[in-house]
Amino acid sequence: MSLTPKTDWNPETYARFRGLRLRPLLDLLMQVGGLPQGDLIDLGCGDGAAAGALKQRYPKHDLTGLDASPAMLAKAKGYDRLIAADAATWQAEAPTALIFSNAALHWLPDHATLLPRLARMLAPGGVLAVQMPRQYFAPSHRFLRDIAAALYPDRFDFARYEAPVQPTQAYWQMLSPFGEVQAWETEYLQRLDPVADMHPVQAFTQSTAMRPFVEKLAPAEAATYAAVYDQALTSAYPLLPDGSCLMPFRRVFFTLKV
Ligand SMILES: C[S@@+](CC[C@H](N)C(=O)[O-])C[C@H]1O[C@@H](n2cnc3c(N)ncnc32)[C@H](O)[C@@H]1O
Repeated sequence: MSLTPKTDWNPETYARFRGLRLRPLLDLLMQVGGLPQGDLIDLGCGDGAAAGALKQRYPKHDLTGLDASPAMLAKAKGYDRLIAADAATWQAEAPTALIFSNAALHWLPDHATLLPRLARMLAPGGVLAVQMPRQYFAPSHRFLRDIAAALYPDRFDFARYEAPVQPTQAYWQMLSPFGEVQAWETEYLQRLDPVADMHPVQAFTQSTAMRPFVEKLAPAEAATYAAVYDQALTSAYPLLPDGSCLMPFRRVFFTLKV
């Protein structure tokens, strides 16, 4: 079943953890070296978290932000150009120096088709740089599926569930025919601040991974779902004395230089 959300993003709840979400973005950018001439594309640019860092590192290149969300694009600043489009079908008009995508491509299906397509849009010497969460079997994400299927089996069935992000080696194999690939994973130990009305992990997932579940529920069902999820999180991610918690979060990274 599809877990692609149909409703628009909420930039305010997404921005709540801006610092924690920025760190992997910068870790990815630090692995992108010199670039040839051509534009830079921030694919799935969201509210523009990467714009400042990309412009600072590559001030002579034009920077385009592309996203499918009107609400996110309305907040995105710092780009030379913004494009509202589906990254799955977008085609660059000219060979591109850098396609940068932080925490976005896991929302798109069929990476085995998408990534080679993006690789072919690069100028000689150009770089594709991607980071995606790989958290699907950790309690924070597994509980979302397990609880939805237990409470509302008429709408949720994960018997044939496949995580949208593959093991890191798969990306190396997909992209190595095009050039030099670096691929790695990092597990970040995120300390999440206390939140008044919910477990801190729910505050983190509610703007992202939780959205496709909640939008299939009526308001009363969504409240029950959130309460059961919250309870399950309490045993998997015990609260520290100050009400914060520690949440390990795994992310996959790769760069391709053609
Ligand atoms: C988690 S946010 C990440 C935003 C930004 N890259 C960052 O690092 O903060 C994911 C973004 O991907 C965008 N997105 C998801 N599917 C997309 C698609 N098919 N085409 C374009 N953008 C998409 C969403 O609209 C959202 O803004």
